[in-house]
Amino acid sequence: MIHHQVIVVGGGLAGLRAALEAAPQVDTAVLSLVHPVRSHSGAAQGGINAALANMEACKDDNPEKHAFDTIKGSDFLADQDAVEIMTREGPACIIELEHWGVPFSRTPQGKIAQRPFGGAGYPRTCYAADKTGLYILHTMYEQVVKQGVRVYDEWAILSLIRDGDTCCGVVAMHLPTGQIEAFQAEAVIFATGGAGRIYSNSTNSHICTGDGMSIAYHAGVPLKDMEFIQFHPTALLRTNILITEGARGEGGYLVNRLGERFMEKYAPKAMELAPRDIVSRSIQTEINEGRGFEDGCVHLDLRHLGREKILERLPGIRAIAMDFAGVDPIEKPIPIHPGQHYTMGGIDCNYRGETGLKGFYAAGECACVSVHGANRLGGNSLLETVVFGKLSGARAAEFVRGKASSQGNANAVEQALARVVAETEKLRSADGKEDPASLRLEMQKTMADKVGIFRTKQELAEGLAAIQALQKRYREIRLNGRQKRFNLDLLRNWELKGMLDLSEAVVAGALAREESRGSHSRTDFPKRDDVNWLKHTLAFHTPEGARLEYKPVTITRFQPEERKY
Ligand code: FUM
Repeated sequence: MIHHQVIVVGGGLAGLRAALEAAPQVDTAVLSLVHPVRSHSGAAQGGINAALANMEACKDDNPEKHAFDTIKGSDFLADQDAVEIMTREGPACIIELEHWGVPFSRTPQGKIAQRPFGGAGYPRTCYAADKTGLYILHTMYEQVVKQGVRVYDEWAILSLIRDGDTCCGVVAMHLPTGQIEAFQAEAVIFATGGAGRIYSNSTNSHICTGDGMSIAYHAGVPLKDMEFIQFHPTALLRTNILITEGARGEGGYLVNRLGERFMEKYAPKAMELAPRDIVSRSIQTEINEGRGFEDGCVHLDLRHLGREKILERLPGIRAIAMDFAGVDPIEKPIPIHPGQHYTMGGIDCNYRGETGLKGFYAAGECACVSVHGANRLGGNSLLETVVFGKLSGARAAEFVRGKASSQGNANAVEQALARVVAETEKLRSADGKEDPASLRLEMQKTMADKVGIFRTKQELAEGLAAIQALQKRYREIRLNGRQKRFNLDLLRNWELKGMLDLSEAVVAGALAREESRGSHSRTDFPKRDDVNWLKHTLAFHTPEGARLEYKPVTITRFQPEERKY
């Protein structure tokens, strides 16, 4: 058994930031499925928001305006106290990143440059060309190395260990050897990322399988607002690779088959820089109504930006378009359509990462604080990772320092380890009739077809029945890989159970919510309904499936109003 006072699960930005905060105070280790610099945070392109007011066009910006934009963008489902903390802490967090050495793009005066992003009243998104997440991740990892934080990489988390109402560690598998080990800890922070891969049309990496969410859910911690799934407006045709919102921030146009800049009809003021839910619905409407191109896309046209600007600000996008669509955006428009991009929902927690389970914290995309409500603004997820990574790391360290005894219940840890070893051995020898890869594909297709941008009662009910049928079929799976070392077959199928349960929570929440709010667009209930639905959904895992409860949204200063852009 391995012991650390704080175990952070996840080596992306939220996890590393949490570890950097906790490590100087208490013995802290990071457990990561991949080497930290391969985490999905590195795929973030366009930037990180903070009201720095560095550009002439944003000299009147401030954290309060950032908070209002975020809350309006969230369709008033975000908890306003948490949003205010995030936007207030934002500028200091960016300066900290700058001091650590993040190579942000600069204004001619040498300040951190900021570009416009959707739903924001000012250019507020700090960026490093179009590889912002990658640069921040590498820089932060340097700090982790400098502080000597212990990192266990290629460890897959399998279970949380709880002793009554207290969390006392995790069970994880070392992929290179297949060894299963208990990590005992006084505090555990999950920063395990999102669940995009429950959809077939996701911009997310293959590691975004929502493991942290499903493991917490199975351990009795509720998930919040899972029905709110973000579709990014511009995923590359066919591969769904992200084409950053920064491309529109730099002035890119969205154009249909008739050559129209169609956003004029849907968001006449904000145009291409309306929030993502609105732009994605607009693109999908153009495609559904026959104004898209033959292969089911519209065009993102950057040609008028000119070669120099594209090479300086969007070099990664150019490379992606050339390599994966055979299109050089300097000369031709990029074919795009909306793709699943982000899980607004996640582990129910507050702004300090605290969940209902003592000693268990969550931060980043796996968490639902909630600062994104029903629709996240682009550039706020990187901000969330650094602000709430830091706060959850601080809170976990404070909790550990205040504890009388440093060791949890060894029996609970031993029992959890024995249970997980037995379950994985059973799975390793599973010899049923169902091919798990087919189940995964069916799940992903069901989510894309039935729980997409536009939703109806009938499709959601069909989606729920399909997912529940897959959950039953999962009991009959067979495993092909029986080896110990790098048994990705075992891992994929351990994950699959969790992915099916997360899918069920998403569909159940969406079916129950009879209104349209942010990313949740019910064509049979097209209006937002604040009287009945200005509330968070909580999903609890039960043997019979997801059980839903609701809790109020925290409103501080901004009363809900109609969203117009
Ligand atoms: O479009 C993008 O660059 C993505 C940013 C985000 O999801 O915040």
